[in-house]
Amino acid sequence: GKGEYDHYMEKEIHSQPTALSNTIEGRIEDGTVAFDDLEAGAFADVDSVQFVACGTSYHAAMYGGQLLRTAGIPAEVLRASEYDTAAGPVDENTLVVAVTQSGETADTLDAVRTAAGRGARTLAVTNVVGSTAAREADDAIYIRAGPEVGVAATKTYSSQAVTLALLTQRLADDVPDATPADDREAMLNALADLPRHVETVLETSRARALAREFMDSESYFFIGNGFGHSVALEGALKFKEITYEHAEGFASGQLKHGPLALVTSASPIFAVYTGGDDEKTKTNAIEAQSRGAPIVAVGPDDHPLVDVADAHLWVPETHPVWAGLLANVQLQLLSYYAAKLLDRPIDKPRNLAKSVTVE
Ligand code: F6R
Repeated sequence: GKGEYDHYMEKEIHSQPTALSNTIEGRIEDGTVAFDDLEAGAFADVDSVQFVACGTSYHAAMYGGQLLRTAGIPAEVLRASEYDTAAGPVDENTLVVAVTQSGETADTLDAVRTAAGRGARTLAVTNVVGSTAAREADDAIYIRAGPEVGVAATKTYSSQAVTLALLTQRLADDVPDATPADDREAMLNALADLPRHVETVLETSRARALAREFMDSESYFFIGNGFGHSVALEGALKFKEITYEHAEGFASGQLKHGPLALVTSASPIFAVYTGGDDEKTKTNAIEAQSRGAPIVAVGPDDHPLVDVADAHLWVPETHPVWAGLLANVQLQLLSYYAAKLLDRPIDKPRNLAKSVTVE
């Protein structure tokens, strides 16, 4: 049941410290990563990766894609429904990773079948043990987030992104010519602190007050680059799903290529940054601010955006990879409280189903 919470979504947002601890548990030893049957060397034949996913899982897959490319492993991130025409060529050295919470999304299953038919090796990254994706793919890795009841995916995004970050470490060690990150130790140490940092965000968040402050806006925009781009897209998707308000997410640098025409004093901009390379997010946020839009900085202290922003959703200082996930928790809370103020049916938004089994 929902216990002390008003909605499953609220409960699931608050269960992220536990979910993340479960995701990580037992998978890191002596600075390397292993998954049950996928031990060292399991991916020695892989030379490139394609992620296929939909919705929130696609946003998590963007995390995996960026991390793999940083490690020198060619990686594409594809919307599963577009796999047929969008994917580059594959062979037996291509690992096609289906990222799917339910393991039952028809578009994603179809992409996996197409990829397998073309000769690729397949791997399911899923939350549901025994799901169709887990059974059909050559291998499966479970994100171990626990059951998710709310239609809007929350804790599973966090656990997916962490699982994919761990998978990157395994691949970086296995794939010939890959270059493991030189800050891996710092990154894995910071990962151990992630559940506690999520707890801190949950305890200190001002998202409820901001949801109220911006309640009468016309549009809600979310921008970010790098990991922040994934979080911006996810923030906007969650916001529109459960509030029914107009929300869009962009790569920071894309705002000026059209969407800026929609920017007014009634369109707050949530600028997500991670403390990595966020210069574009700052310059584009300032551009929007000069058109009258209120800017909310979403990320750690000690960043130039904080000084120029009209409000700040703060997250604790950590490695840039994890800062995005903490920023996302702030945006989950923002969407939740905005939807609550609007009295929406938060756990079952209109027209949406938890798993989409039609193409
Ligand atoms: C967003 C949401 C959907 C799903 C998408 C993929 O909150 O729930 O966008 O993320 O339908 O579902 P899975 O991950 O089950 O393949």
